Amino acid sequence: MQKKCFNIGGLRLANPVVLAPMAGITSLPYRRIMKEFGAALVFTEMVSCNGLVRDGRKTFELVRSCPEEAPLGIQVFGGEPEVVAEGVRRIEQYGALIDFNLGCPVSKVVRGEAGSALLRQPRRVAAIIGAMRRATDRPLTVKIRAGWDAASINFLEIGHIAQAEGADAITLHPRTRAQGFGGRADWDMIAQLKQALDIPVVGSGDIQTAEDALAMLDRTGCDAVMIGRGAYGNPWLIANILNLLEGRPTRSPSPAERLAVALRHLNYHRDYAGDRKTVFEMRKHLCWYSRGLPGSSDFRQQVNRTGQVDELIQLAESFFGGEEKADVC
Ligand SMILES: Cc1cc2nc3c(=O)[nH]c(=O)nc-3n(C[C@H](O)[C@H](O)[C@H](O)COP(=O)(O)O)c2cc1C
Repeated sequence: MQKKCFNIGGLRLANPVVLAPMAGITSLPYRRIMKEFGAALVFTEMVSCNGLVRDGRKTFELVRSCPEEAPLGIQVFGGEPEVVAEGVRRIEQYGALIDFNLGCPVSKVVRGEAGSALLRQPRRVAAIIGAMRRATDRPLTVKIRAGWDAASINFLEIGHIAQAEGADAITLHPRTRAQGFGGRADWDMIAQLKQALDIPVVGSGDIQTAEDALAMLDRTGCDAVMIGRGAYGNPWLIANILNLLEGRPTRSPSPAERLAVALRHLNYHRDYAGDRKTVFEMRKHLCWYSRGLPGSSDFRQQVNRTGQVDELIQLAESFFGGEEKADVC
């Protein structure tokens, strides 16, 4: 299979591999690492339009970027058309593309009639996407789930609405809100959406290996794959998808490579947020980078007891660089 570039509303993407928006994960340091491994497009975690219109400092922090990660997709969420449109006007300058969240299952968001709760209100979805379209000339995308629950699966209806209101592409994570992250993502729904729409369709859900990504592209005909949890501690997944797309073999990182990337990630985090937050945030990433290596469970326990960045670095150096480690992936 050839590596395919594709366009979203005039934004040319070099390959069909994009990084999923993930709250609490896809901060600037994480996105930079994934970009370095070849993701054509990276997304912020979801940004509250209410926070943007209130000029919330923490909210604007989420769209902090750097030239190395371009093009950046900014994902926003909200429930009121005018608030969402105003939020978009305030941040469009920071990203190359704006995405709207119609999938978040978290109670706090759903209670505010945003995220996946909107799937139950197609008319409001139309009003919001229309208002966003009028507010920005940037490429505009939406990210949806299959529906609210098994009795109300309506991704095709929402897809048609998004296209009619001017969305340039749509991402489907084919689980219902009721499913959360349980069960399997139903890739057949991605194929159905691709058949039904003219705009590009991005498939999201359960890509853990490079082979999975090629299978999704092949089985659904989607224009691009979105990589979420599979890349935790494993940016090599993205490089390996590109390897397979270009007819090259996949390869597993050595422990030394894992260490180098983990420490680069940590240093990006230090620059981004300072030492205190770096310890807190990087613990989970270091645990993920260690997955599959002998002794990783002891390493995880030590990491989670560590309160200083320098200690974290020493622990990582002695774990990944210590006694000979087999290359496991
Ligand atoms: C920790 C976490 C946070 C997430 N945050 C968001 C988010 O902010 N916006 C969004 O559209 N999807 C979010 N998602 C969903 C992912 O973007 C993706 O659609 C989903 O995880 C399925 O893909 P995967 O199996 O490759 O992880 C999140 C998922 C996880 C696991």
